Amino acid sequence: MKILVVGNGAREHAIVHSLAAEPVTVGVTHELHAAPGNPGMGAQARLHAVDPDDGGAVATLATSLGADLVVVGPEAPLVAGVADAVRDAGIPVFGPSAEAARLEGSKAFAKEVMATANVPTAMAHVCTTLDEVAAALDAFGPPFVVKDDGLAAGKGVVVTSDRDAALEHARASLVARGDAGTVVVEEYLDGPEVSLFCLCDGSTVVPLVPAQDFKRVGDDDAGPNTGGMGAYTPLDWAPAGLVGEVVDRIAQPTVDEMARRGTPFSGVLYVGLALTSRGTRVVEFNVRFGDPEIQAVLARLRTPLSGVLLAAAQGGLAQLEPLTWTDDAVVNVVVASQGYPESPRKGDPITGIDAAAALDGVHVLHAGTAVDDGALVSAGGRVLSVVGRGDDLAAARAASYAGVALIDLPGSHHRTDIALKAERGEVAVP
Ligand code: AMP
Ligand code: GLY
Repeated sequence: MKILVVGNGAREHAIVHSLAAEPVTVGVTHELHAAPGNPGMGAQARLHAVDPDDGGAVATLATSLGADLVVVGPEAPLVAGVADAVRDAGIPVFGPSAEAARLEGSKAFAKEVMATANVPTAMAHVCTTLDEVAAALDAFGPPFVVKDDGLAAGKGVVVTSDRDAALEHARASLVARGDAGTVVVEEYLDGPEVSLFCLCDGSTVVPLVPAQDFKRVGDDDAGPNTGGMGAYTPLDWAPAGLVGEVVDRIAQPTVDEMARRGTPFSGVLYVGLALTSRGTRVVEFNVRFGDPEIQAVLARLRTPLSGVLLAAAQGGLAQLEPLTWTDDAVVNVVVASQGYPESPRKGDPITGIDAAAALDGVHVLHAGTAVDDGALVSAGGRVLSVVGRGDDLAAARAASYAGVALIDLPGSHHRTDIALKAERGEVAVP
């Protein structure tokens, strides 16, 4: 197949990496393209300097390549309607329409769909003034949860017991969007978080294996939220019936409700969950694979990814054979640049990737990298994903961190405790 992957992060590199591995697993070689891609993806795919948010440009590229499938990775192009433009050009595309992408693009819209579909989530107030915010904060009490109602790359949420800080985030969010600003104030959800990616084709739902992300920048969940500092799978501590429960009570009712509205959802519904003392609750929906979780999840998928993505794009998930998975463990540790998430420094030289990737069970995926004068340099906040596998979480952690130790990026930082509590059996549902 000729496959065009849209995006330039480690999520898109993970997709390309899995597609490029198919000759080994099924003997089929694909012609891979990426727009715009990154230097890591360039080893496996042809890169095209096309704006990923420009639907017309992406559709023109896909047409000129004769692409059999376009995979849109990030949320921004989906919300901007890039999948619609490709679909209108008659090319199968993995990713929802702009209408359906509102499940991520607007937290207020997602809450409304969840309410209609009877999906369990945190109670919430949608506020347009600071007075409304103050009243909602006092109604719920601390800890306070305040969310900017728009795309914010995982950084628009403040969870704090400081009422003034909660009000300040609400004020800044309202001001930033002018008259159209809304913020969502929510009930606090206790309990561990889980990410479950559900493939959808408008009617059928096929779940992947669950993973856990580490959103805070520092060890022991210290510091501000980031896009995600690491992830692992499997979650041996999760209740046995979790995936079935999430499909039956959350993903399928949501897909059914979107179809009923005439805006069917296809692509991947990212169900962000909290396993609380009062049951399973949706923290958020996203409309694309989670980064850094998908880097770990795809490493365990045995079924060839191309057929899975094509089935979702073409309405064929009901006919797909059940997915198969390796029974080992995978840990992904993100190497971030100095200053991330507040003010990531760019342009630092990166060395040691080849040595890390030469380790048994380790591969390295690029995110914020660029080539400058022939040398690889940092070009964003999250720079690399170092993915390690092993028979269990302890071995996978050892592999991943051995890789991280070989990589040199001046000023970089990473969490040292990805999957550590799970390895020690210290994660529990309250
Ligand atoms: P979101 O952008 O909605 O995914 O939120 C980012 C992160 O903030 C989540 O992954 C949680 O760690 C935290 N968070 C969001 N909503 C809540 C909530 N209602 N209760 C507790 N933590 C939350
Ligand atoms: N891992 C969090 C996200 O992709 O939003």
